[in-house]
Amino acid sequence: MLPHAPRHGERVELDIERLGAAGEGEGALVLRVGPERALKRYVVAVRKAMVGDRVRAIIESRRRGRYTARVDEVLRPAAGRVAPRCPHFGAREEPGRGCGGCTLQALDYPAQLTVKRDLVQRAMANRGLDPALVAPVRGAEDPWRYRNKMEFTFGDDRERRFALGLFPTGWHNEVIALTTCHLVSTVTAGVVPRVRDWAEARGLSTYRPRDDRGFLRQLTIREGKRTDERLVELVTSPDVAVETVSGPRQAEEVARELLTAVAGFAEELGGRVSSAWWTRHVAIAGQATRLESTLVAGTPVFNDELLLPDGSALRFGIHPRAFFQPNPRQAEVLVAEVLARLGAARTVLDLYCGTGTLALCVARSVDHVVGVEIVADAIDNAVANARANGLDNVTFLVGDVGEVLREHADAPWRAEVDAVVVDPPRAGLMPKAVEQLAAIAPPRIVYVSCSPASLARDIVALRAAGYEVEGAIQPVDLFPHTFHVENVVTLRRTSDAALIPASEG
Ligand SMILES: C[S@@+](CC[C@H](N)C(=O)[O-])C[C@H]1O[C@@H](n2cnc3c(N)ncnc32)[C@H](O)[C@@H]1O
Repeated sequence: MLPHAPRHGERVELDIERLGAAGEGEGALVLRVGPERALKRYVVAVRKAMVGDRVRAIIESRRRGRYTARVDEVLRPAAGRVAPRCPHFGAREEPGRGCGGCTLQALDYPAQLTVKRDLVQRAMANRGLDPALVAPVRGAEDPWRYRNKMEFTFGDDRERRFALGLFPTGWHNEVIALTTCHLVSTVTAGVVPRVRDWAEARGLSTYRPRDDRGFLRQLTIREGKRTDERLVELVTSPDVAVETVSGPRQAEEVARELLTAVAGFAEELGGRVSSAWWTRHVAIAGQATRLESTLVAGTPVFNDELLLPDGSALRFGIHPRAFFQPNPRQAEVLVAEVLARLGAARTVLDLYCGTGTLALCVARSVDHVVGVEIVADAIDNAVANARANGLDNVTFLVGDVGEVLREHADAPWRAEVDAVVVDPPRAGLMPKAVEQLAAIAPPRIVYVSCSPASLARDIVALRAAGYEVEGAIQPVDLFPHTFHVENVVTLRRTSDAALIPASEG
């Protein structure tokens, strides 16, 4: 046993007890340290260690009393440990490994769901809430190839070779040249190495942020899971001419050829590119970054559909900058959960509505939906999608939730709201938003959350405002093989308790 606190580079042995907040496997070392040999407990977060493993780990750093480490050897594998499907999973120290896409791939899927539920239960317990409220996680029928969007970066790999792929966890100055990926479709996964080879063979340069030089920045591939439509976006520097093996050429010509090649590769792999965009990333010191986009081929948007529980479909037209649920199949599960919890509500407020996915799904079964979102482009998209689906009972408002609700204190719809859906970003509800919710005092709030910690904090704040959790807190796994987990909870108004604003943290 070590006679001192763990030090950089030291090897330690420990059991991995739980999933850490950033997806690492977390365990503790209890050591006798110092001249008095006092008992001390040190929390160690081990990258790519699975809950249930016993590992030998190498200490890498210490921040705010918490150590991080990497696996040196798995001494006793967790019960649910499996061989990872992807060759890029693992430690960054090994060539071609350490991809930041999946952190839990070495656990079988049922074990992943168990550790995610435990993560949510601990977040609730940390705020004094009953962990028994947390239901088993609703998992995906198929936890592979679910993502409809992936942004691949051009850059150098660790050996300074031309690469197209994803960053290793925590590193943004090297890229793993992906040969495959099991989170995206076989078409997307197959296109990436082909584009890499194509671009390298033509002597194209990758953009280097260090010295602001080079041409190719990113390739984003998005696809409809219920349609065979695909949107591809190539992002480059704003250079007008670029070096190639056959000498300098017009950037636009090269970008068009690359996008044509992508469409050809997709076709070889059985897919169709319906929309191809070239975007020049213009960053000038002292000015806001501009993205100048040109439609090179096909239609400006690609379409996808979400199925509602009654079997009807909603169609979404998605342009390069628009957000759309990254796992549409599980988004349908989430939508069904929200709809079931809204009960007989007739007028619904959808706060943090984004491009209106939830608002539009709800609009089919209620009289009126009011959506509020801070990003104007997202609202433009939501309005277009409402129109395309023939929904004229949705009103969208742009601005900060707290501000918009304050400004609409006398709006006629406000007194009619009988349920509110909130789906805030990871930070959760700001105190101003909680104040407004308490002022509106809807009978029911359906809270959709991507952060168990901020959800637990906000439940406490809403309880102080007269709400109680109704039924179970339902985790839904939108991102298999990652440590993320979405939650849906219903809060029912039970009293007019005085409002205590949510605290940050
Ligand atoms: C988790 S997303 C919600 C996505 C949405 N439910 C959908 O399916 O498209 C959170 C949204 O909150 C928006 N947002 C962040 N801060 C906000 C604020 N203060 N007021 C209004 N909207 C905000 C973000 O732009 C983002 O679209």
